[in-house]
This record gives sequence, structure tokens and C-alpha cells, in this order.
Amino acid sequence: MSTDRVVLVTGGSLGIGQATVAAFAARGYRVVAMARDAERLAASVAQLDHPLRACVSAIPGDVREEVDVAAAVGGTIERHGRLDVLVNSAGVSMRASRRLVQSDVAEWRRIIDINLTGTYLMCRAALPHLEASPDAAVVNIQSTAAYAAKAGVGVYAASKFGVRALTETLIDEYRGTGIRVSSVSPGPVDTNIWSHKIEPPDAVRRSTMIRAADIADIVVWLIERPASLHIPDITVTPTRFAR
Ligand SMILES: NC(=O)c1ccc[n+]([C@@H]2O[C@H](COP(=O)([O-])OP(=O)(O)OC[C@H]3O[C@@H](n4cnc5c(N)ncnc54)[C@H](OP(=O)(O)O)[C@@H]3O)[C@@H](O)[C@H]2O)c1
Repeated sequence: MSTDRVVLVTGGSLGIGQATVAAFAARGYRVVAMARDAERLAASVAQLDHPLRACVSAIPGDVREEVDVAAAVGGTIERHGRLDVLVNSAGVSMRASRRLVQSDVAEWRRIIDINLTGTYLMCRAALPHLEASPDAAVVNIQSTAAYAAKAGVGVYAASKFGVRALTETLIDEYRGTGIRVSSVSPGPVDTNIWSHKIEPPDAVRRSTMIRAADIADIVVWLIERPASLHIPDITVTPTRFAR
């Protein structure tokens, strides 16, 4: 398939974001990947097969920083002259299950800043450029935690409920304009995010999680539905994972 559409993916060096970069590149999109660790981001692009690698470029940056966000969006426009799709996948989770009363404010700020403020800043910077695209879309990688808060994961859930509020606000604000704003809300996905846990899941538990590549395929599928269709959210859960 060949397309001239340009996609910007945050969190593009690992997990769902990395798989999404590869999936769009495999479909012939021009892709810009963003993440903080420049070396890991470059390595992630370098490990793609040759024809895919040519479709992907990297712009290191932190979604919490307005200047980095402006550089990622501006750099994409400078390189490709357009932006059609924004995928917000940059995100972090809690290091351990903690009741709210036991949580610390540094952890609260880290998670809210990256997951919620980062998504807000990216959307705010990208949307004026997306408005120029004939077929624009935003996909926010939410979580099932955006729909159900549970004991021990309140800080993460608060960030994802917030992302859901952003998504639903943008859906309403861009209704009728042709810009499709959606979310994909997965249950547990086998990525690096779990390695930051004080008690990471073992291999057996990981094997029951969703594969990042499957979420990436769903994101691409969503983008490739006819422009006349808007799918607000796709919630995806693994069939064998037990809490
Ligand atoms: N894995 C799951 O079970 C699961 C389930 C539901 C939803 N999600 C959501 O899916 C998204 C992706 O998660 P994942 O599992 O793919 O995580 P991951 O494997 O840990 O990857 C996270 C990516 O985000 C980047 N990132 C983190 N903080 C950033 C920042 N401040 N600025 C720019 N990039 C940043 C990381 O690179 P750097 O560290 O180099 O910046 C990395 O590329 C997150 O929003 C997460 O909440 C994950």
C-alpha cells in the first residue's frame, strides 16, 4: 500500500508506540517517532528492516515539555510538509500498587504530567496542523483504567480518566470537521512498562497479556476505516489474563 500520509507517534521507542511505528511504516506511511531517550529511539528505528526504516525518522523529546512538543510537531511539518495522524502512546504506570492515602506526590506528578499533560500538550500543538489534512485523526492510547478505577491504581486511573476526558472533549469540539479523534483502551499489554514495577509479572503472566503488535494493528485498522466513519473508542482485553 502506498500513502502520502504522515503519522507522529509519541512513545515510539518501546512497547505499543514502537509497534505502532513499525505497523504504520509497513503500510507505507511516513512516520515520526518521539521519545525521551534519544539513543534508544535511534536504536529502535535502526532495528527496522531496510524498506521500513526509510519511512521512519526520530525526534527525541519529552511530552511534558512544551518546547520539545513544539519541536516534534514543527520538525514533522518541516520534514514532511504535513501531519495527518497523531498517536499519543507515551506513558508511564505506577511502580507498585498503592492505596491513594499511601501514594506520594512525586509519583502523582510524574504520572499525571506524562500521561495527561503530555497528551494535552501534544494534541494542542498538533491539531492546528491536523486541521490542514484532508483526513486527519488523533488516537490516544488510553487503558481500561480510563473506564474503571480500582483500589491500588488510583493515580494511574486518574491520569487515564483525564485522557478519556480530553479524548471526549476533542471528539465533541471537532465533531463535523472531518477530524476523527479516538482512543484505544487496552487491558494488560506485554511491554516494558511492567519492568518498572517493584514486583514485575513473571513470564507465565506476561504470556497471557495482549501483544503490543496486536494493539498497533488495531490502531492502523482504526485509521484505515473510511473517513466517513468515526469510532470513538476500541477497548481491548486479553481473553486469558486473570487479575
Ligand atoms: N502495557 C500495558 O499493559 C498498557 C495497558 C493499557 C494502556 N497502556 C498505555 O499504553 C501506552 C504505552 O505503554 P507501553 O506499555 O507501550 O509502555 P513502554 O513499553 O514502557 O513504552 C513507553 C514509551 O513512552 C516513552 N515515554 C515515556 N515517558 C515519556 C515522556 N515523558 N516523553 C516522551 N516519551 C515518553 C518511552 O520512552 P522514553 O522513556 O525514552 O521516553 C517509551 O517509548 C501508555 O500510555 C500506557 O499507559 C499500556
